[in-house]
Amino acid sequence: MTRNQKTIYECSECGAQSPKWLGRCNACMAWSSLSEVVQRPGAGGSRSTRRDSGDQVLELDAVDDSAELRGSTGIGEFDRVLGGGLVAGSVVLIGGDPGIGKSTLVMQAMLAMASAGRRVLYVTGEESASQVASRARRLGGVGGGKGARLLATTELEAAEAALAASPYDAVVIDSIQTLRAQGLESSPGSVAQLREVSSRLIDVAKQRDTAMLLIGHVTKDGGLAGPKVLEHLVDVVLSFEGDATHCHRLLRGQKNRFGPTQEVGIFEMVSEGLREVADPAEVFVAERSEQAAGSVVVPSAEGSRPLLVEVQALVAPAQFGSPRRVVSGLDSSRLAVLLAVLARKADVPILDYDVFAAVAGGARVEEPAIDLALCAAIVSALRERALEAGLSCFGEVGLTGELRSVPRAGARLAELRKLGFKQVVLPKAAAARLTAKEREGLELIAVERLEQALEHLLP
Ligand code: TYD
Ligand code: MG
Repeated sequence: MTRNQKTIYECSECGAQSPKWLGRCNACMAWSSLSEVVQRPGAGGSRSTRRDSGDQVLELDAVDDSAELRGSTGIGEFDRVLGGGLVAGSVVLIGGDPGIGKSTLVMQAMLAMASAGRRVLYVTGEESASQVASRARRLGGVGGGKGARLLATTELEAAEAALAASPYDAVVIDSIQTLRAQGLESSPGSVAQLREVSSRLIDVAKQRDTAMLLIGHVTKDGGLAGPKVLEHLVDVVLSFEGDATHCHRLLRGQKNRFGPTQEVGIFEMVSEGLREVADPAEVFVAERSEQAAGSVVVPSAEGSRPLLVEVQALVAPAQFGSPRRVVSGLDSSRLAVLLAVLARKADVPILDYDVFAAVAGGARVEEPAIDLALCAAIVSALRERALEAGLSCFGEVGLTGELRSVPRAGARLAELRKLGFKQVVLPKAAAARLTAKEREGLELIAVERLEQALEHLLP
């Protein structure tokens, strides 16, 4: 460490800095989130001090915004989630589980852009050049993506040199966690490295008007690995994830400085790479016709964005002793309550059965908004009949068998509509508050009680 470097500690959650290590961040109260960063004058950490004061106050409507140039990624669903294409000089962070298809998605975009005559560079730190090239060949066919360039490196300086040597319209960094800046002792993927690497890449993007696609890893609980500040630094944050039935891939906006974040791009992974799914009805609805009894897809809005999850139930006559109740991803006492309500208030003879209930795909849902779907899955399993294709439901079930309203009904409906659902059974109180726009394109069946809901769901 040279003399003009100084060590500070930075919170990976909120980016607050502290001169000494603390067990808990004073700013956001997160535990064990502080780690060491080395700050050098002129490095990314001190960007604000570097600016010269050429800044001036302007008339807002006199500012020229024609510079916001958008180019197509060549993938319609990708463009839509970006808000209508890739903006020149913008920085897009794409997160997702390993193996979900991030590299495939950006490679297909690179190949399409190269074919359209745009200058593209793919920087890989994860895979060797030959691995990337063989995937590109498979995805693009012979001659596909001619003109695309490739750099295999884990050194940030090598990537910077390549970017300085010739101009590019778009550059992929796969992944941001594998790049390492010289002069920082911490290992690649650490908070200090991520901060330095991303802020230097962002500088290049802005100076050279190059669009940057940064691939990021996610942690076990689904958040983007690395400092939260990274999400603040970039222009767009997208997540690439599997859907409730695992057959498809969803690309969602989490943050977008150039467009709305409610868009969802839908893909299917096939042997030729990612195929765009233009008609969302294909996703859940087409599959549901062959789907088994005991499964209900429900919009959960527990996290920041509504997400469809599949609730499953299996029932079997109890063999001896008291019936078993086994849950996974659900609250077991909630299941006990709902079984009692089903038996006493909706005349469903369920108490002598073993009941197994789960959220498919290892997700965990605690919110009562999925009560109705769980009841429907249990009754569907009991009667050995599947729900109609394109039908979903949500709502909290009260102890007297009444259906109670749940928050964010409009957002839940939007998610169902996007993925091709046609009919939704929901609490009357929730339906009453919807705007005309929120109801659009869906047949809403508003009911007050659990037994009425079940009549509509499983007539
Ligand atoms: P990949 O893009 O490497 O995932 P990530 O970069 O997110 O880790 O893709 C991973 C999976 O996709 C891999 O298990 C194989 C599958 N796949 C296909 O089914 N077809 C294809 O054409 C490609 C390229 C990948
Ligand atoms: Mg990859």
